[in-house]
Amino acid sequence: MTTALIILGAGMGTRMNSDLPKVLHEIAGAPMLVHAMKAGAALTPEHTIVVAGHGAQAVEKAAKSYDPDAVVVRQDEQLGTGHAVAQARDALKGFDGDAIVLYGDTPFISAETLAAMSAARLTHDIVVLGFEAADPGRYGRLIVKDGQLDKIVEFKDASEIERAVTLCNSGVIAAKASDLFALIDEVGNDNAAGEYYLTDIVGIARARGMSATVVSCDEAETLGVNSRAELARAEALFQANARQAAQDDGVTMTAPETVFFGHDTVIGRDTVIEPNVVFAPGVTVESGATIRAFSHLEGCHVARGAIVGPYARLRPCAELEENVKIGNFVEVKNARISEGAKVNHLSYIGDAQIGARANIGAGTITCNYDGFFKHKTTIGPDAFIGSNTMLVAPVSVGAEAMTGSGSVITRDVPAGDLALARARQENKAGLAVRLFDKLRALKAKGSK
Ligand code: UD1
Ligand code: CA
Repeated sequence: MTTALIILGAGMGTRMNSDLPKVLHEIAGAPMLVHAMKAGAALTPEHTIVVAGHGAQAVEKAAKSYDPDAVVVRQDEQLGTGHAVAQARDALKGFDGDAIVLYGDTPFISAETLAAMSAARLTHDIVVLGFEAADPGRYGRLIVKDGQLDKIVEFKDASEIERAVTLCNSGVIAAKASDLFALIDEVGNDNAAGEYYLTDIVGIARARGMSATVVSCDEAETLGVNSRAELARAEALFQANARQAAQDDGVTMTAPETVFFGHDTVIGRDTVIEPNVVFAPGVTVESGATIRAFSHLEGCHVARGAIVGPYARLRPCAELEENVKIGNFVEVKNARISEGAKVNHLSYIGDAQIGARANIGAGTITCNYDGFFKHKTTIGPDAFIGSNTMLVAPVSVGAEAMTGSGSVITRDVPAGDLALARARQENKAGLAVRLFDKLRALKAKGSK
């Protein structure tokens, strides 16, 4: 069956108390909207329609950055979830498959659950995703009668008996697209909220003799985010799942509760992650690497057997080849560190290429920025960069070349050469003792 996703994200999210549209608040470094799109991607949808309203431009940008083919439609006035879905009608003109409605603020619907909904669609016209709520609160209630979903009643409009029902509406609904839009045409706004409720389509469909059913999932999957506290709870849930998944994949974490993953982090088997490591988005770590305590990684790739940290920072486009060592207080950005090279202490390596087995001494800095442009530093294989070398880019140091400690390297160093670029040392015989005597005498007199 071909599927179109309709993702609702026009709401203001008043309770977030934010200038940012609710669906752009992030979990694990990706907007909630992107999580919802990723969840829906399990259905390999032919169309993805995002309904945007508040902050529509920013919402559109986020949607397109994840899926350039996503279509963003506007709902300028938020008149309810039914009205929101209706905004997708033109974008799906002539589409003959199923439509599935997801909420941009409900980021954790699983692929299995969506597959179960698709399967249920083979026998029912309308499939609603429900869950048994520990605390049903203000959720819409699913009223089941004679084995069919009979209607959905919003909390505000529910009777005492209906409010006692604990089977709740997640908001996810699947139906044939043409049925969905035909049913929405019938939805009115004569209810407690004065809104066009998407949920009303179930009662209308049943009155027309159509069938409807509920697919159930775990409450954790339908977790919706309406406030900062719920956002933090969603983040915690994501992290708990990511830690468990990493462990199942053969990753050792000494203190998993202190390790934070990005939404797309990939870690290979037998990698060890020490406490307090943060993975921002875009990180891949291959097998058998060690990420030591208090390191921060973003947009980088760490190959097999590499050792990173403690206290290392890998920024976007840091590429560490096999068995590289990056030590404490080292920052690497947009640089390839070739196999077996070492940058062990207190360095900044940016816009650079470091050759295999090269050793970069403590405190070395690639001076890559002149205030206007970025420049590249190239270091050959087996080079030895003395401690506290400033490499003023653009500059290159050849294979098996060496720089003296404290050098400021402004010209290329040919392969095999030793470059010394610092003031020559002079020793003044006995001058220190004479100076101390003089200062001591001054202090005794009470002057400074
Ligand atoms: C909705 C459901 C309720 C369900 C609950 C689950 C309806 C009428 N009610 O209630 O049964 O239990 O979700 O969380 O559908 N949105 C728009 N445009 C609008 C209104 C909403 O795009 O005009 C979007 C919001 O941005 C949000 C989603 O739809 O992503 C849900 O809207 P919200 O107002 O939070 O619905 P609830 O009252 O929570
Ligand atoms: Ca909601």
